[in-house]
Amino acid sequence: MLWLQLLCGLLLLNGVWNKPAAQKEDDDEEDCEINAPDTMHDFCCDLHDELSQFVECQIEWHEKIHYTTDKEEQTYMFCTAECTFNGTELLKPNRKSLNLKRVQAHLESELADDADEALLYETYVKCDKHATSLLSHKSVKSLSKRLDAYGCHPYPGLVMECVSNDMILNCPPKRFHDTAQCRVARDYLRNCMTHVKYKP
Ligand SMILES: *[C@@H]1O[C@H](CO)[C@@H](O)[C@H](O)[C@H]1NC(C)=O
Repeated sequence: MLWLQLLCGLLLLNGVWNKPAAQKEDDDEEDCEINAPDTMHDFCCDLHDELSQFVECQIEWHEKIHYTTDKEEQTYMFCTAECTFNGTELLKPNRKSLNLKRVQAHLESELADDADEALLYETYVKCDKHATSLLSHKSVKSLSKRLDAYGCHPYPGLVMECVSNDMILNCPPKRFHDTAQCRVARDYLRNCMTHVKYKP
């Protein structure tokens, strides 16, 4: 049963993948980032598969949100992200910033290598700031309203998306999963990030 749901979830996620690429040309600035295909579930870099709660939360939220549109899928992804962060206690009680001490302790316990820890920690620091700065963005505000209906807040998803993007862009080459899907994601992001103020 669990297996089937997982498989089903993966197929659905794969199905939505290639869509946003065509519409990206006329997006301005941060919209190119916010409208980027979700990378949260891609795990294109060996370094970044450290959040074990993620799969459980995917299953939990898949049952709660039966998405049929891109927007509903985004709601599902952001609730999954918050659920994951709630489980790991990386989030401060205000739900708008990370507990960086916990992030560090968490990375120390999950990753075996000092250089990996340092790289990922810097990414979390950067993404904490970046996600906070996106909260006032118009399209994030409208996303926030949609999330409210499910008791979810956009901040954890913004962090997680930023961490995934950063790991796709800055993954040590040997650790990058050289699959078609990951290459598409990397090329999109490289192109997109040249329009965005934030440089991962
Ligand atoms: C995460 O925890 C907060 C605070 O307890 C709660 O309000 C919120 O609904 C939780 N989010 C998810 C997605 O479970």
